[in-house]
Amino acid sequence: MKAISLLNETRQVQLIDVPEPEIERPNQLKLRILEIGICGTDREQVEAGYGEAPAGTDHLVIGHEMLGEVVEVGKEVKSFRKGDYAVLTVRRGCGQCAACQSNRSDMCMTGLFTERGIKGRHGFETEYVVDEQQYAVKVPAELVQVGVLTEPMSVVEKAIEEAVALQAARIPQAKAATWLIGKRTLVAGLGPIGLLAAIALLLRGAEVIGLDIVDEGSKRPDILRRLGGTYLDGRKVDTATLDARLGQVDFILEATGVAELGFQLIDALGVNGIYVMTGIPHGDRPVCITGAEMMQQIVLKNQLIMGSVNASTLHYAQAIEDMQKAKAKWGDLLNEIITTRLPFQQYREALDLRSENDIKTVLLWDKPSEQV
Ligand code: BGC
Repeated sequence: MKAISLLNETRQVQLIDVPEPEIERPNQLKLRILEIGICGTDREQVEAGYGEAPAGTDHLVIGHEMLGEVVEVGKEVKSFRKGDYAVLTVRRGCGQCAACQSNRSDMCMTGLFTERGIKGRHGFETEYVVDEQQYAVKVPAELVQVGVLTEPMSVVEKAIEEAVALQAARIPQAKAATWLIGKRTLVAGLGPIGLLAAIALLLRGAEVIGLDIVDEGSKRPDILRRLGGTYLDGRKVDTATLDARLGQVDFILEATGVAELGFQLIDALGVNGIYVMTGIPHGDRPVCITGAEMMQQIVLKNQLIMGSVNASTLHYAQAIEDMQKAKAKWGDLLNEIITTRLPFQQYREALDLRSENDIKTVLLWDKPSEQV
């Protein structure tokens, strides 16, 4: 079968032939890949050769945002059957730490985890995959068109859940279930993560201001406005004046992966506010910040600055629940986040694609059987 792989020797991405995986244990299931989303990490793999092949192999099959259809299940698999749509999580635990032993490898403490398509384990840009049922989450048929967004949505769910839990733990009277109601939130970067974060925050009753550096009339601000958020063109505002301009900002979710901006935005955070960084910048350019002023602000305003990566199956399930709610509230607006669908053979074009109106590009591997 075909697989898009990063070759160790050349550090180039290429379509190669690999053996089709088969079920080897009774708790496994086999999926036919339908769609794979492309994200910044995939583009880094192509441009900077980032990514690590499984031990003893000469290539890494890339791709970690997937949607598949179950074609076969092992004898012990009771909650999935042939024809179900499902997604697989990205990370596999180290097997040594308490987090990984409780299926929370997203909080792995040893760093010895692997990630499908990224670190030491083959990914999903291929025709078939096999994995254990504990890493699979069912996608209802009504969400098949947007199921490939489950992984990025799960990252958002984890970031928000952690932030809200921390606020509930430290602010008198704050409760996790209601803390976001009426809160002013700033989402920096309106790519897939930012727009999905806007959706999750709006569903929880927050006010959402979305910051990006694209024209007012382009696709990202348009989707944000139709969701009920407000757009701010980062090219027209000085980040140092954001606090005065926006007033009390309770929560910031960073999804730009631009280190300098990531630090500058701390300035916009309000009293008792929480700031979650989700972008993963590469390269290492020094960042210039007004350190004393920033530290003074963080201390005097009881601020929490944190990072969040990856997600557990619980967050995938939450992602699916929120995508259902989004569909009920905004109809097919969620589908508009997927701006380009290309056949997998056009992977080079898909990986190169970057324009103001491109949000999520997806590679098509096969059609769901219902639509064949
Ligand atoms: C993925 C995460 C992964 C992270 C670090 C992100 O692009 O969405 O699942 O943990 O990269 O490799």
